[in-house]
Amino acid sequence: MLDKLETLLGEFEKQLRDCKTQADVLNLKAQFLGKKGLVSEVLGQLKNADATERKTIGAKANAGKSSILESIEAKLNELELSEVNKKLKEQRIDISLRESLFYQGAKHGGPHPITLIQREIEDIFLTMGFEIIDGPHIEDEFHNFEALNIPADHPARDMQDTFWFHHPHTDEVPADGKKRLLRTHTSTIQVRGMSQRKPPFKFIAPGKVFRCERTDASHEMVFHQLEGMMVGKDISVANLIYFMKTLLGEIFKKDVEVRLRPGFFPFVEPGFELDIRCLVCRGSGCSVCKKVGWVELLPCGMVHPNVLRSGNIDPDEFNGFAFGLGLDRLVMMRYGIDDIRHFHGGDLRFISQFQSY
Ligand code: PHE
Repeated sequence: MLDKLETLLGEFEKQLRDCKTQADVLNLKAQFLGKKGLVSEVLGQLKNADATERKTIGAKANAGKSSILESIEAKLNELELSEVNKKLKEQRIDISLRESLFYQGAKHGGPHPITLIQREIEDIFLTMGFEIIDGPHIEDEFHNFEALNIPADHPARDMQDTFWFHHPHTDEVPADGKKRLLRTHTSTIQVRGMSQRKPPFKFIAPGKVFRCERTDASHEMVFHQLEGMMVGKDISVANLIYFMKTLLGEIFKKDVEVRLRPGFFPFVEPGFELDIRCLVCRGSGCSVCKKVGWVELLPCGMVHPNVLRSGNIDPDEFNGFAFGLGLDRLVMMRYGIDDIRHFHGGDLRFISQFQSY
């Protein structure tokens, strides 16, 4: 019986060496140490042995059992370690992968052309001493309309098709009595900018604006404006023209001729449409300028006294100008893009055409 036990232990060690997985080891454990396992089988025959033999075999069997358990434990640890190492090797995360693909010219985007022009214009205005400020996309009717001299019943509210926020069930007006909306223009930031500073000041405010419009090649529901405002003593239309000419000269890298036509916006008086001499035909008439020699570029004007008042500024002491530059149109003119819908189309082929990192 003692021999049987020894052979059994030898057999166990041999089979254990051949185990490849933790499951193999556990099966082997059941085979040898389980209730109906081989060791139990040998021990079951103990009752037939005499007392001294029973003692030696019993001790031997117990020692065998614990050595089997130790070997199993060691083997399980060993297998676990090698499995973890294998996984680490196979599932290694190559953090350089994206970069290397990037430089090998794989598909990638780039800064959006609107971002590029926005940064460029911000730099130009920074060198002219303007601040850059921001405002929320979700606005109230005070900042979008009332403070800009557009009272509730004013027909000019219809000039800008507005996305309104409604209470889903009751259509209730918020506690402050001001209905919420997605800002239809960046002029909302004029009001915020004025009430946060004392004249003289000048700032620009770039950002997204939203209008509930049917989209086509030249209309989008989401587009980009860059608002500008300068307030101080004795500001005149000549100041406005100077800043606009400097800006456009920098953007188009040549001297541009500008002209002002009367334009109506409730928040400026007088209000203008600023046109530039067509850069494609230099004024002789082409398809870009629709044969008129001039291209309409930005609305602007002298800030209306009511608007200054809503920004806590005394219109008898100070005045100023404001303008609203449409960034989408500018980018389209610069790069010859014929459909505004490309800007939010998400097509990488479009986006990767502009200056990359
Ligand atoms: N906020 C006007 C618009 O979006 C543009 C504008 C800005 C006009 C500033 C005059 C002065 O239509």
